[in-house]
Amino acid sequence: MNKRITTGIKIIALTFIIINFASCSKSDTSPAPKADACAGKTIVITATPTATEACTADGKIDVTATGSTGFTFKLNSAGTYQASGAFSNVAAGDYTVFAKDGAGCEITKLVTVASGGVAGPLFTAVKGLVTAKCQSCHNSSTANGGMNWQVECNIVKNKTRIKVRAVDEGTMPQSGSLAQADKDIITNWINAGGGYTD
Ligand code: HEC
Repeated sequence: MNKRITTGIKIIALTFIIINFASCSKSDTSPAPKADACAGKTIVITATPTATEACTADGKIDVTATGSTGFTFKLNSAGTYQASGAFSNVAAGDYTVFAKDGAGCEITKLVTVASGGVAGPLFTAVKGLVTAKCQSCHNSSTANGGMNWQVECNIVKNKTRIKVRAVDEGTMPQSGSLAQADKDIITNWINAGGGYTD
C-alpha cells in the first residue's frame, strides 16, 4: 500500500519536472541575434518595366541582381519567390521588386509599370455609342447590373457582356434593341481585338 503511493508521487513529480523544464526552456530562449545576411555585400537590383496596353495586364518587369549568388525574385511582399526574374502579365501600377540571395539577404526596389497606348478608332466609336445610348442607366451613381460605362476600362473588360446583351440578344438598351449600324460598331471593335487601342 505504502509503496504504491510513493511510486505515484514519484511519477507526478517527474511529470512536473518535464513540464517545468519545457516551459523554462521556451521562455528562456530569446531569439538569438541573427547574423546580418547582407553584411559586406553590395547587391544591386535592376528592374526594367515594359508598359501595359491600357485596360489590360500585359506589362512586364524584368529583374536581375548583382553582388551575390543564388538569387530568387518576387513582386510585392505578397508575392512568391521564384528563380526567374521575368514577370509577365503585369497590370499598370507601382510594384516593389524583391531580390533575395542564397544566404537570405533581401533587398527591394520600386518600379512603375506604365499604362500605354492611345484610344483606337474602333474603341472610340464604341465609347461614343455607349456614352449616348447606355450611360444614362450605367454610370457612377446608377450602375445597373454592376456596369459603369463612365469608366473606359469597364467597357473593355466587359466587352463580351456588351456584345451578348446589345448585339446577340438585343436586350440592351432596355428601351429597345440597337439599330444594325450600332450593333456593327460593337461587333467590328470586338472582331478587331476589343482592346483600348483597337
Ligand atoms: C434604361 C436603362 C438602361 C439602358 C439605357 C441600358 N441598360 Fe444595361 N442594364 C439595365 C438594367 C436595369 C440592368 C440590370 C438588369 C439586367 O441585367 O437586365 C442592366 C444590365 C446590363 C448589363 C449587365 C448584365 C449582364 O448581362 O452582364 C450589361 C452588360 C448591360 N446592361 C449593357 C448595356 C449596354 C451595352 C447598353 C447600351 C447599348 C445598355 N446596357 C443600356 C438598364 C439599362
